[in-house]
Amino acid sequence: MDVFETIVVAVWAMLPAYVPNNFAVLAGGGAPIDGGRTWNGKRLLGDGKTWRGTATGIVAGAILALILNAIHSPVASALGVALPDQFPPAAIIALPAGAMLGDMTASFLKRRTGRERGAAFPGIDQLDFVVMSLLLTLFAAPTWTTKTFTLPVLVVVFVLTPLLHLVTNGIAYALGLKNEPW
Ligand code: CTP
Ligand code: MG
Repeated sequence: MDVFETIVVAVWAMLPAYVPNNFAVLAGGGAPIDGGRTWNGKRLLGDGKTWRGTATGIVAGAILALILNAIHSPVASALGVALPDQFPPAAIIALPAGAMLGDMTASFLKRRTGRERGAAFPGIDQLDFVVMSLLLTLFAAPTWTTKTFTLPVLVVVFVLTPLLHLVTNGIAYALGLKNEPW
């Protein structure tokens, strides 16, 4: 695999995990998942993790995976690269669900470390969703995951994701969709 192909494979395989956060931002609002509960005087997750945002994010990621499956062959021929095998059903759910779970885990850790809603948590903010998404997908669809995420693909994912995250959140902030640029 050359560098171009490795990048295409990494982005293709991770797209269903990339979009949930953005859709959660667009759809966020309504009841918080933690229902306002606290632990040691701090919110469990906070008002930034809502049922509506989370559900919308997971559905958006799953729909995108279905779309990518549908356009798999034409895109592979057009680009002249070997794309990852089609997303199996378990990965269609696990990639976006893992991303949302990772984002939630980060909020849980932020609240435990005294960070208010919206506070930055450098490193964690950029990679939480990738790590959890990959772990959940590894459990749910081990064959597809180990075949798709070779070491070079993983390296690209871990280099490219923080950059993409910073850029998309910067855009969402500039557009007034997000309160902070991280
Ligand atoms: N959002 C949501 N549900 C999620 C994730 C995000 O509703 N599971 C929405 C919320 O409106 C949230 C916004 O998207 O305020 C931005 O997401 P994020 O930066 O993850 O949340 P923060 O508000 O910064 O809260 P935290 O400090 O817990 O990350
Ligand atoms: Mg935030």
